[in-house]
Amino acid sequence: MASRNNWATELRSYLPWTKSPLLISAPMGGFAWSTLATSVSLAGGLGLIGCLNDMSQLSTQLTQARSTFASSSNPSIQASKTLPLGIGFLAFICKAEDVVPMIKEFKPAVVWLFAAKRLGDYKGWIEALRSASPETKVWVQVGNVEGALHVAKDARPDAICLQGADAGGHGFEKGAGVISLVPEAADALKREGCVDIPLLASGGIVDGRGVAAALALGAAGVAMGTRFLASKEVSIHPVAQAAVIEAEDGGQVTKRSKLFDQLKGPNIWPEAYAMPGYEVDLS
Ligand SMILES: Cc1cc2nc3c(=O)[nH]c(=O)nc-3n(C[C@H](O)[C@H](O)[C@H](O)COP(=O)(O)O)c2cc1C
Repeated sequence: MASRNNWATELRSYLPWTKSPLLISAPMGGFAWSTLATSVSLAGGLGLIGCLNDMSQLSTQLTQARSTFASSSNPSIQASKTLPLGIGFLAFICKAEDVVPMIKEFKPAVVWLFAAKRLGDYKGWIEALRSASPETKVWVQVGNVEGALHVAKDARPDAICLQGADAGGHGFEKGAGVISLVPEAADALKREGCVDIPLLASGGIVDGRGVAAALALGAAGVAMGTRFLASKEVSIHPVAQAAVIEAEDGGQVTKRSKLFDQLKGPNIWPEAYAMPGYEVDLS
């Protein structure tokens, strides 16, 4: 029977430079580039680049990452058979056929998929990525139990990240926090016999207490995004970074809605998604 401990062992088998517990910097499109991803991996976590559907920009970033890792003296980074980072793709905007050549060329340790238009889309993505680079593992982030069950049975990713309602960036407009989502999804997956896919948690985890809680709930590692918006290595406007650092009582000052996407132009996100922002009174 799979457990959090043997999931952690499995994850370390292909992320040999990582320390325990597994800490992941989430792929934040437009914010998480190679400087952040390589720093996190070199510190013993798994850093992810967030791709914005520009493959030439991604290629530049991956070339930069490759040279940063090449100059590292860390033996487990040097011994890695894959590029010791991950790349996140938004499945509703990126096309698998554009991504595949990148994965073939750079062989990242992990590809992270999120926000497909339909849950059934992940299967084709995963097959295409696995044939492009069999060493690369493919993870999918989902925001509810139904998504976890569907993806586990149909697409069979190498890990599932359960994104709770506290998450920064886009997520399901309606959702539960990790404290109920992780155990409910773990139980549902167990009932269906899907115990071999490691679970990760994301959403509102910012320090050791949150990490410990996620591990206690059954996750084998955690992904954090907002926490890294406060780092020196992230690409963010200083005013936006100051607002993140200064925010207090976050549940009161932020609101998850579609407003930001609507203001930016036609909202291209799948119907279920929204994102948190500072609450503004437009009345
Ligand atoms: C600024 C920002 C941008 C994000 N962009 C992406 C993205 O491009 N792709 C993705 O899969 N997740 C993205 N996310 C969501 C993360 O994958 C993750 O679910 C989230 O950061 C976890 O919650 P936390 O921010 O409370 O740590 C983003 C998150 C933030 C904060």
